Amino acid sequence: MNRVCVTGAGGYVASWVVKLLLSKGYTVHGTVRDPCNEEKNGHLKKLKNAEERLHLFKADLLDYESLCDAFSGCIGVLHVASPVPGRHVSNPQLELLDPAILGTQNVLNACLKAKVEKVVVVSSGSAVLWNPEWPSDKEMDESCWTDIKYAKSLDQWYAVSKTLAEIETLEFAKQDDLTVVTICPSIVIGPMLQSTINATSLLLLSYIKEEGRSGGVTMENTERPYVDVRDLSEAILLVFENPKSEGRYICSAYSIRTKEFVAKMETVFPEYNYPKIFSEKSGRALLNSKKLINLGWNYRPVEETIVDTVKNYEEAGFLEKGKPFPSTIRF
Ligand SMILES: NC(=O)c1ccc[n+]([C@@H]2O[C@H](COP(=O)([O-])OP(=O)(O)OC[C@H]3O[C@@H](n4cnc5c(N)ncnc54)[C@H](OP(=O)(O)O)[C@@H]3O)[C@@H](O)[C@H]2O)c1
Repeated sequence: MNRVCVTGAGGYVASWVVKLLLSKGYTVHGTVRDPCNEEKNGHLKKLKNAEERLHLFKADLLDYESLCDAFSGCIGVLHVASPVPGRHVSNPQLELLDPAILGTQNVLNACLKAKVEKVVVVSSGSAVLWNPEWPSDKEMDESCWTDIKYAKSLDQWYAVSKTLAEIETLEFAKQDDLTVVTICPSIVIGPMLQSTINATSLLLLSYIKEEGRSGGVTMENTERPYVDVRDLSEAILLVFENPKSEGRYICSAYSIRTKEFVAKMETVFPEYNYPKIFSEKSGRALLNSKKLINLGWNYRPVEETIVDTVKNYEEAGFLEKGKPFPSTIRF
């Protein structure tokens, strides 16, 4: 009985997780907030084997009963849903903290009620990275945690939401009879399966389309850690399936400065409008994924991700001349 539930199934990361599970023979329960919203969730029904083995459930993270219904009969839950804003949020408590923290509590309690055996909670590299005490040239491993006070002082509410949710998750795992593993991906890039754009795809699109950049031809040369969405999906399944997985896993493939990333894109796709001037931005973002690699994880080269992603944006029409920069995201 290989039946698992994926929360927020229509989202960017979750859609790839659902696709992977279906390709591996799993029966999948996917939670979505609005099953009738074809624009947000229609792509799920077109996935191979979806007709036979994908069942969508209407559920909100703040509605415990709806989660219980969705998890019923599942041996595992992959908790992916959490708001990822692409802009400043006006009410962090309502927009980020409640769905992330109370939502995760509801998921874990619903897992206990449904007698789920194992849960993977998708946290974030932002629950690792905002730590001013960590030496800047030392790679951050799973022992490094975002400093909540520091993140709040910088208005990094997304980081606060993910860190508090992950702390609660690992505390819950100590007390209850449920195997819980967390995974902390860095910035997720790669082709999209869904038709509505998500926050991090918007970031990559801004490297190619000038209309998406506040600085026009100028851009900050920031070092950022990335992982391909397909490699992340494999990692989520790996930690779920491997009986030896435990605790927290960083999932990041490489850290690259924007200037270098853009140069790689320009080599393959020279026809687009890349930033020309870079202002130097200090700071490192070195995440260490050795624990995950030791479990058997592998990742593709950045060049492959770039080719597949830009082709995906071309097919989706985002790069057509004169087409405005997307003004709405999934959030
Ligand atoms: N993208 C990244 O770079 C990145 C990096 C690290 C970690 N992550 C984590 O990966 C996960 C997925 O992110 P993503 O990039 O795939 O973002 P996304 O495409 O915006 O997906 C977010 C999902 O969360 C769901 N959601 C939000 N609030 C909800 C609520 N109250 N009840 C039920 N569902 C709710 C959304 O549902 P609707 O479809 O109904 O809106 C959506 O399916 C998140 O946990 C995020 O923190 C992402």
